[in-house]
Amino acid sequence: MSIAHSQRLTFLRLLAALRPHWRSDVALPARIQTALRGERGVGSRDRRLYRELLFTTLRHLPWLEHCDDDTLVSRVATLAADTRATHGFRETFATPDSLAGLDRTQLLPDWFRAECPAAFEPHQLDTLLTRAPLWLRLQTDTPDEVFADWTSRQWQWTPSPTLDGAVRLHDEVDVTQTEPYERGQIEVQDLGSQLLLAAVAPQPGGRWLDACAGAGGKTLQLARLLGPTGRIAAHDIRPAALAELQMRARRAGVASRIETTGAPSGLFDGVLVDAPCSGSGTWRRSPHLKWVTTPATITRAATTQRTLLDRFARHVRPGGQLVYATCSLCHQENEATVAHFLETHPEFAPAPFAQTFGLTPTSHGLTIWPAAHDTDGFFVAHLRRRTV
Ligand SMILES: C[S@@+](CC[C@H](N)C(=O)[O-])C[C@H]1O[C@@H](n2cnc3c(N)ncnc32)[C@H](O)[C@@H]1O
Repeated sequence: MSIAHSQRLTFLRLLAALRPHWRSDVALPARIQTALRGERGVGSRDRRLYRELLFTTLRHLPWLEHCDDDTLVSRVATLAADTRATHGFRETFATPDSLAGLDRTQLLPDWFRAECPAAFEPHQLDTLLTRAPLWLRLQTDTPDEVFADWTSRQWQWTPSPTLDGAVRLHDEVDVTQTEPYERGQIEVQDLGSQLLLAAVAPQPGGRWLDACAGAGGKTLQLARLLGPTGRIAAHDIRPAALAELQMRARRAGVASRIETTGAPSGLFDGVLVDAPCSGSGTWRRSPHLKWVTTPATITRAATTQRTLLDRFARHVRPGGQLVYATCSLCHQENEATVAHFLETHPEFAPAPFAQTFGLTPTSHGLTIWPAAHDTDGFFVAHLRRRTV
């Protein structure tokens, strides 16, 4: 049997194991990892092949879930990204005709149309139906050492034309195993996520509360924007995430400027509420979420977001900034949540963005559309507490 035909059998076996879970398991990527580890004799390149085939399947599920095996394999091979890992498989099985007449709008859930009609436009679909690239954030002003390391590994990269310090890596690589990462000179952070704080431009030297800090992706960026005299109180309901944040802050050399807190108190120059959300902006990276998210998920998320925004807004000093962010493209979680907040909090008003990166804000916030800069999707609102 040829290598490609034996890969086909392994792919179909992995798929059969996932099939009962692909419309119900929020943690499907972890299940895929476990399934791949369980495959004996699969090297790292083959693991990359199966990962790409499985994620391609999830990305295009309505086109595939009711097909016979031959049609499914032809379609997945045609749709998969052409990489070193997938090349042989694609050469053997890809048949562009197998996609004739298929409707791309079926590849987003129907209910999403009411939440985000713009996502169904052809140019947004072009991006939303592909894998998001690997974006990094430089945490050094002298990145030559970082670039020298990548050159020695023959990695290709491009600095972002949109934001200084954001770099796109073109290879499928694990940067966490490199010296620049261990030295804290780089962090993995989607460009869209980096644009949120850049859009509101926190004043250097300010004292901020990062109320939903998680493992600190944005906390570290905020520390850099606030500079050496800035201070951050980082809060989250997950102590394990805050412990990871502290480790990353040490690696980045900013630990002395970040204090983790179980119960925020007092007033701050700025409060960031990077709220828990449906993650509908991350479907390029986590396509399984398209099929496990429901309208009820969105309504529940919006209820939580309203509560958190109300709770943490109390910590903004008069004249201070309130930044609300999600990695969702759903109206209820974004503009509608902000509109509700403003209706019930007349002491806050929308504030202008320092930069909008070619995107058009509404009166309630700025959506970072994935197609604009090849990113995940995000939303950010910038509000200010009135002084009187
Ligand atoms: C979108 S994630 C934050 C990501 C993080 N800011 C980053 O940039 O990497 C939302 C976070 O909100 C936290 N969270 C959920 N409910 C919360 C609550 N009641 N109070 C504070 N944080 C909460 C979650 O644990 C999660 O870490």
